Amino acid sequence: VKHLFTIHDVSGEEVFEFIRLAQSFKQGDSWTPTYPTFAFNLFFEPSTRTKCSFEMAQRKLGLQVIPFDVLSSSVQKGESLYDTVKTLESIGANLVVIRHPQDEYFAELKEINIPIINGGDGCGHHPTQSLLDLMTIYEEFGTFEAIKVAIIGDIRHSRVARSNATILKKLGSEVAFAGPDEWFSDDYLQNGMYLTVDEATEWADVVMLLRIQHERHVSTSHLKTAQYHQLYGLTEERAKKMKPQSIIMHPAPVNRNVELASSLVESERSRIFQQMTNGVFMRMAIIKYLLDT
Ligand code: CP
Repeated sequence: VKHLFTIHDVSGEEVFEFIRLAQSFKQGDSWTPTYPTFAFNLFFEPSTRTKCSFEMAQRKLGLQVIPFDVLSSSVQKGESLYDTVKTLESIGANLVVIRHPQDEYFAELKEINIPIINGGDGCGHHPTQSLLDLMTIYEEFGTFEAIKVAIIGDIRHSRVARSNATILKKLGSEVAFAGPDEWFSDDYLQNGMYLTVDEATEWADVVMLLRIQHERHVSTSHLKTAQYHQLYGLTEERAKKMKPQSIIMHPAPVNRNVELASSLVESERSRIFQQMTNGVFMRMAIIKYLLDT
């Protein structure tokens, strides 16, 4: 059984296979499993995009999506994550998607005999976000080689930053980080350099902004949101200095006028909503790949 826990589980070849498959779904191709297939989406943290686009992808593929509400489940009686997933496997689930606040919660789920897809673990990983981001970059530039990607914001607490930096470097892109020093971590330097926000926005082909992950901060930052926008956000002034062909990405949800000016969210340079659209097709590709191999 194949699981998708982190982007480390995906080879360079598989990235291109996922993109090819996702693009074929985007162009209207279809695929359905040859047997009745039941999916459960276990979200222990809030989500709009990941949860809804997984459900959309599952329904487009003809899967039967069985609702699972953490708050009315036996998780409330203390049932462990392992026992919850083992129960779903026992009653006939064919696929489980999980988002959980604990870093690497999936370490205890490796022996589960149905595919598990990680929809985000704590500050750890978000592999399906990474793959839909890669699809969006590839659609734009037709390659990853030598594409300059600046990841700006709350790097330390972002599972998107970690997943994207790792895979982009593997695929030949150049990565730079920028943002408040207090939210950076030196272990990121193995995948890219650290620039000021001004340097990064002028250098990048892809300016990837990240949300401030207040819910993962152990202490309250001294930074006020207006201050953050001026110091580290993509202001209208900074955006004017971007290269002519460079694009803006953000995994969302966006804090308008914090990470980036509200006027830029739906601007010509923005690919933020394209990322969401691609997310459905990429998740269809991932599900097919896991169920069909
Ligand atoms: N990008 C992302 O993971 O969004 P949600 O938290 O809404 O799923």
